[in-house]
Amino acid sequence: MNISVIGTGYVGLVVGACLAETGNNVCCADIDQAKIDGLRKNVLPIYEPGLEALVERNQKEGRIRFSTDLAEAIASASVLFIAVGTPPGEDGAADLKHVLQVAETIGRHMTREMVVATKSTVPVGSAAKVTAAIRKEAKFAFHVCSNPEFLKEGDAVADFMRPDRVIIGAASDYARGVMAEIYAPFLRTGKPILFMDIASAEMTKYAANGMLATRISFMNEIANLCEQLGANVDSVRRGIGSDSRIGQSFLFPGPGFGGSCFPKDIKALGRMAAESGVPLEVLAAVESANERQKQVLLKKIRVAFGDQLRGRRVALWGLAFKAGTDDMRESPALSLIAALLEQGVTVCAHDPAAMPNARALLGNRIDYAETNYEALAGADALVVVTDWNEYRHPDFERVKRTLKQPVIVDGRNLYDVEKMRELGVRYHSIGRPSA
Ligand SMILES: NC(=O)c1ccc[n+]([C@@H]2O[C@H](COP(=O)([O-])OP(=O)(O)OC[C@H]3O[C@@H](n4cnc5c(N)ncnc54)[C@H](O)[C@@H]3O)[C@@H](O)[C@H]2O)c1
Repeated sequence: MNISVIGTGYVGLVVGACLAETGNNVCCADIDQAKIDGLRKNVLPIYEPGLEALVERNQKEGRIRFSTDLAEAIASASVLFIAVGTPPGEDGAADLKHVLQVAETIGRHMTREMVVATKSTVPVGSAAKVTAAIRKEAKFAFHVCSNPEFLKEGDAVADFMRPDRVIIGAASDYARGVMAEIYAPFLRTGKPILFMDIASAEMTKYAANGMLATRISFMNEIANLCEQLGANVDSVRRGIGSDSRIGQSFLFPGPGFGGSCFPKDIKALGRMAAESGVPLEVLAAVESANERQKQVLLKKIRVAFGDQLRGRRVALWGLAFKAGTDDMRESPALSLIAALLEQGVTVCAHDPAAMPNARALLGNRIDYAETNYEALAGADALVVVTDWNEYRHPDFERVKRTLKQPVIVDGRNLYDVEKMRELGVRYHSIGRPSA
């Protein structure tokens, strides 16, 4: 099938590469010339495990190409995926500017009947706007459908190749048939493709992210309460996760959620609810609990050092909003760094993937270390922000030796409290007793 993906970011690139891998003829188009130039040379604009090999192989074998010529990408395709960004506007609603720009371009340049699938996360009712924008100049029949994406950064290729489910909101048999054919290779294990009306598909994406964010904020608040009452959130998490109605996923407390999706999707969902006059009080609480949680590591640093932080130096392990990605959008590390700098603390950070993004965002306001151990030199404390594998089992003797004083503030509960006590480390984690 001739497929074009418009927008070659985290989502568009993964979608394009995976669709090429199953034999389609894919064009990934973007307005960012530097991104496209790099991709033509197999230089990826993002860090995503397994993606580089896919891009390289499929480009070599002629199944994927990269272009800034949107008109050509549209003209040559019978199926189009829109995967451009939908950042929050000033009122928190998802800004459809890029999506609708693309839609207008589609109408202008289409050369045949086509299916247009929106992968970008868009509010309920967007398909009608996309349809109207395409219709302005369209000379052929077209079928707009909603195909929200559920991939997780850091696991994106595996998530797309083996999805839990595929959601298709469509209003025509033609669109349903085309989408079923495209997704058949990814659903051989029997996972479902769920067809529904377009509004429900658009809502499913927001409801999924709202639910996941709720679990995280709920557990963060439970963790804070555990700490006050002398309970251990690790035990509580295992205790509730064993209940089949609850399950183990998304129960780990931490320094607050970030990333390009949860914060903006929660805002957009809240906006949709407000515009509809329907209260979504749970979600408003999730958002404010998360803002509060982003202060939790600073509070713990204060427990270790008191209020006089000026002149201290902190080693930060992890800048990305989660492990497996270089994405720092809304990362809790950014809130922590801003607060530390304001208090006169110097910061030396390490991250296995996000250093280039950090340099672009923070410049020389912080120091950067080549290795996680190097970050510790001269630091008063180690603060773990992201749960990268390489931080899980460090050489603690070396950590102790290199730090000025043996203080670890662990935002991801990576280490064993008892072991830290035995090692003589002053250890503060989330929802567990301190050592
Ligand atoms: N990142 C995720 O984990 C994830 C997961 C599921 C859904 N989504 C949704 O997918 C969408 C894309 O997210 P992302 O993280 O890939 O964004 P991104 O910012 O990484 O990529 C968006 C790309 O679109 C390009 N673009 C913008 N306007 C364009 C235009 N008019 N024509 C062509 N290209 C254009 C940009 O240059 C950029 O490369 C968003 O709606 C997001 O909410 C993201």
